[in-house]
Amino acid sequence: RPPLRVALAGIGVVGGGVVRLLETNRDLIARRAGRTIEIVAVSARDRHKDRGIDLSRYRWEDDMDALVAADDVDVVVEMIGGADGSALTLARHTLGAGKALVTANKAMIAHHGLDLARLAEETDTPLKYEAAVAGGIPVIKAIREGASANEIARVYGILNGTCNYILTQMERNGASFADALAAAQAEGYAEADPTFDVDGIDAAHKLSILAALCFGTRLDIGAVAADGIRGLIAADIREAEALGHRVRLIGMAERNGDGLYQHVQPCLVPADHPLAYVPGALNAVVTEGNFVGRLFFEGAGAGAGPTASAIVADIIDIARDEYGPAFAMPVDSLDAAPVADAGAR
Ligand code: HSE
Repeated sequence: RPPLRVALAGIGVVGGGVVRLLETNRDLIARRAGRTIEIVAVSARDRHKDRGIDLSRYRWEDDMDALVAADDVDVVVEMIGGADGSALTLARHTLGAGKALVTANKAMIAHHGLDLARLAEETDTPLKYEAAVAGGIPVIKAIREGASANEIARVYGILNGTCNYILTQMERNGASFADALAAAQAEGYAEADPTFDVDGIDAAHKLSILAALCFGTRLDIGAVAADGIRGLIAADIREAEALGHRVRLIGMAERNGDGLYQHVQPCLVPADHPLAYVPGALNAVVTEGNFVGRLFFEGAGAGAGPTASAIVADIIDIARDEYGPAFAMPVDSLDAAPVADAGAR
């Protein structure tokens, strides 16, 4: 089969990881995909920034839309970030042009996922976003495919690595919230705007996507109640420990009558629960299906390598023509937007 030709939009930490992964594992990926995967063009805001990778062999486009228009591009990988702005414009243009879109952008999917999925259906085009939830953990694939025969009662977990890193640093080293956040930023886990991490907004984006997939409901970020960890002090952590618990930022979605409970909040987790053991910046997701039972996924939720791993897995699926509706069923088959009753649990 002819090579699958890929364009990369936004070359930051994650984009660099995608280039490195596609170059390093090129032959293995070609064998698994049944064809080679070629980067043909790249685009980012600053052409001359030192990214520590050699991009000279790829065509540079100053205008992101030129990636969509180019005849030799089959797949656009959006790594710009942000719910709206140039990321959304690029996504709409890509799908509208009938080209495949791979994105790591949880904010964009949380806010515009249904519209984008509808556009993808209209043009019969893949829309893939594995990297948007829990980074390298293939949880979208697991829910969409592996557990797809199940009625899922509940999905919950640790969906923000920065917060887990901060909480475990405060717990183990007695670090202050501010110092632990600075360390998470230095490690590159935090969002460009870390308030999205510490106020639970990043986790809410991811939870809304998981809920839509698990329950077959229309994604509704407005129905997620989000509390973060900003108000926590060292004494809270010590108090929890004295009670045999640990404080973790947990995102949880479960059916609640006709509605859907969706909440991100700091929780007391019993010290012997697997979620209490998720170290540093790792993520974990738990689902409960009526035939498969409980599934527990743990792994890196952020960082260049894990995020690139998820992005390239999506590209490989496209190369194999293995894709279906973005939310596991056509948008019109999803249940109406769930009731925003997070407090009613
Ligand atoms: N800032 C996010 C986190 C990165 O800390 O989990 C991955 O979405």
